[in-house]
Amino acid sequence: MNKPELPLFPADFVWGVSTAAYQIEGAVTEGGRGPSSWDDFVSQPGRIVNGDTGEVACDHYHRYPEDTALMKELGVDAYRFSFSWSRIQPGGRGAVNAVGLGFYDKLVDGLLEAGITPSPTLFHWDTPLELEQAGGWLNRDTAERFADYAQIVGEHFADRIPRWITINEPVVLTMLGYGAGIQAPGLSLGFDALPAAHHLLLAHGLGVQALRAAGASNIGIANNHALTWPASQNEEDLQAAGLYDNIANWIFADPVLTGAYPEELAPFLPPIPDGDLATISTPIDWYGINSYNPTLVGAPTTDDAALVDGYELDASLPFSLRELEGYPRTDFDWPVVPEAFTELLVGFKERYGEKLPPIYITENGAAINDGPDDAGRVRDVRRIQYTDAHLRALKSAMDAGVDVRGYFHWSLMDNFEWTVGFSQRFGLVHIDYETQKRTPKDSYYWYQELIRNSKGGA
Ligand code: NOJ
Repeated sequence: MNKPELPLFPADFVWGVSTAAYQIEGAVTEGGRGPSSWDDFVSQPGRIVNGDTGEVACDHYHRYPEDTALMKELGVDAYRFSFSWSRIQPGGRGAVNAVGLGFYDKLVDGLLEAGITPSPTLFHWDTPLELEQAGGWLNRDTAERFADYAQIVGEHFADRIPRWITINEPVVLTMLGYGAGIQAPGLSLGFDALPAAHHLLLAHGLGVQALRAAGASNIGIANNHALTWPASQNEEDLQAAGLYDNIANWIFADPVLTGAYPEELAPFLPPIPDGDLATISTPIDWYGINSYNPTLVGAPTTDDAALVDGYELDASLPFSLRELEGYPRTDFDWPVVPEAFTELLVGFKERYGEKLPPIYITENGAAINDGPDDAGRVRDVRRIQYTDAHLRALKSAMDAGVDVRGYFHWSLMDNFEWTVGFSQRFGLVHIDYETQKRTPKDSYYWYQELIRNSKGGA
């Protein structure tokens, strides 16, 4: 490449890759796994592009040794994956499924043997179906059940797992799952979805406590954050963008880091029982940020579809998402704006000051759909460009004093991208879904070299 080499990251900076259970495992009826909200959602006609499902996905349940070997070769320090709750507790409560735990035993032991730090997420959207049918995250009881589940995995793995993540992106589950009906469980409740946000946050806090009681340490959360830019400086646009920013960002960070909800949201939130905010703000060891691109938000318009990351939303909302013009786009049509990543991270430091623990980037990446050429090589140059630019932006934030300890690329391999099925490819490794052949892309070799260089070429 003609660009100067990436600035050096600290020698102990953690380099990783991320995945999630439903997106890669397949084997949905094997080993005593119970169904989840996603098994149900994908079975409903018209929900998923091309009718795709996670039934087989990357067949990681059977091919995990090959995938671990690919990570070892890549040279990552850590692997962020998720436990499928309904593999471990098929009904989301009560009896533990030993076969399910056994699968993760084999995965975790293999990772440790390969010198890779297992960094699991306890919950990445796949709610056990029985709990979903009892109200899912609208029901406070689900948070209590999550605490039991956290205790089970904590007790089983605390001596082997040195880094933990409670919950992935409660914002997306709340907004797209319960608010807009785009993801499981497919409910379109608008602002009435907000109790789900509160219960997910409560589950996080209870989960931290359960994990600690079980002897686990080094615990964080993985929250999605998109810098919000107002569409203009008009009063209406500023107000709409401010409301959106609170709902998409601060509702999930403020209670965890400061023990309070943003004041502006008081009119929209259910009554909060005493003690809940203290539980939610149980101290964590680090804060995980998933971030891909900024969002441009303005007042509602009638001629402008409200879009979230390419999904159409109900036009009656008190804000609308606008097209960010003038930037390159990924194949998923997401704008590529690396400087927004620096601004987001510096903004976190400004907002929370001393209350901000060290940060890990738990996800960042791009859907670039290049496949193998005639020689079988995947030249995904735009993924390299995206990642290079975002790592430079990340380093700028670190140079400005933001304490970032690691970066987990999304994703190790192409996988089931929820509502858009297999149509969008985020992997460093290409998956041929017909044959399950894994092909490391050019970006995989680029990331491998970057990791090697950052460790002094060792
Ligand atoms: C966020 C989610 O955590 C992950 O499951 C998803 O595939 C990526 N972002 C890309 O959309």
